[in-house]
Amino acid sequence: MKLCKTVAELRTEVALAKVAGRSIGLVPTMGALHEGHGSLIAAARKENELVIVSVFVNPTQFGPGEDLDAYPRTLEADCLLAEQMGADIVFAPTPKEMYPSEDMTWVEVTGDITKVLCGHSRPIHFCGVTTVVSKLFNLAQPDWAYFGQKDAQQVQVIKRMVKDLFFNVQLRIMPIVREADGLAKSSRNTYLSPEERKAGLVLSRSLRQAEALFQQGERDGAELVEVVREMIAAEPLSEIDYVEIYALPDLTPLAGKIAGPCLLAVAVRFGTTRLIDNIILEGA
Ligand code: PAJ
Repeated sequence: MKLCKTVAELRTEVALAKVAGRSIGLVPTMGALHEGHGSLIAAARKENELVIVSVFVNPTQFGPGEDLDAYPRTLEADCLLAEQMGADIVFAPTPKEMYPSEDMTWVEVTGDITKVLCGHSRPIHFCGVTTVVSKLFNLAQPDWAYFGQKDAQQVQVIKRMVKDLFFNVQLRIMPIVREADGLAKSSRNTYLSPEERKAGLVLSRSLRQAEALFQQGERDGAELVEVVREMIAAEPLSEIDYVEIYALPDLTPLAGKIAGPCLLAVAVRFGTTRLIDNIILEGA
């Protein structure tokens, strides 16, 4: 496996692959890789001839006071895991390499899709995500790009960006990988104290409860939100950022009962750590 640290090195590898007619799969990450990322890399390996994993803690998607400095940076271990899962190239640029100029070109998706949920509590977040993902798409020129349902809103925002900007890439969305006890795997789980980690289980538990009610016929979105909210609020270490439900794909408010696919998403703080989780409720 090859480690590329510069744009020029990556461009050379991509050009060689293109000339040889090899298909390219891209897995964008911020590193601190775990089995969630691993599932994306494994899927990319199955479906492409060249697999590129980017490892870049993207400063533009962190707001003031967020965990940019504290975010775990574990490049050596990341390279090992990426290689084990079948990556051919890890692209790990410096911030200066990705953002060479102080003046910036931004890629922004506007509308509800970036304003609700995480967009509300993290106003510049998605603009940073779409900007860096555009750069990565332009550099890696992937045929396929892999994202996790764990970041459900990010998936919808990137789908929209790809459509609006005519990016010539197919998106593959992989299911949420969880710990045995249900906690969604996340690079931020390492911040949790043992008590907070235990408390964090309420996210998957409450979403499973909502899913069970939905399967039993409950179609009142507000009722499902209330059930989840109450369960989470009963956990003393939790501080709710949001518990909300929106219609897919555009994250528009539900008009009446659930009649099509929708996203029930939560963001909750445990101490200083903010965890997210979600379920998709499919239709009628
Ligand atoms: P990061 O949080 O490192 O996640 C990289 C990819 O792994 C995302 O598509 C995310 O949804 C997926 N992922 C994370 N945890 C997962 C889990 N438990 N199960 C399945 N997939 C999981 O998301 C980002 O980085 C950044 O915003 C990025 C897209 C790289 C842009 O900087």
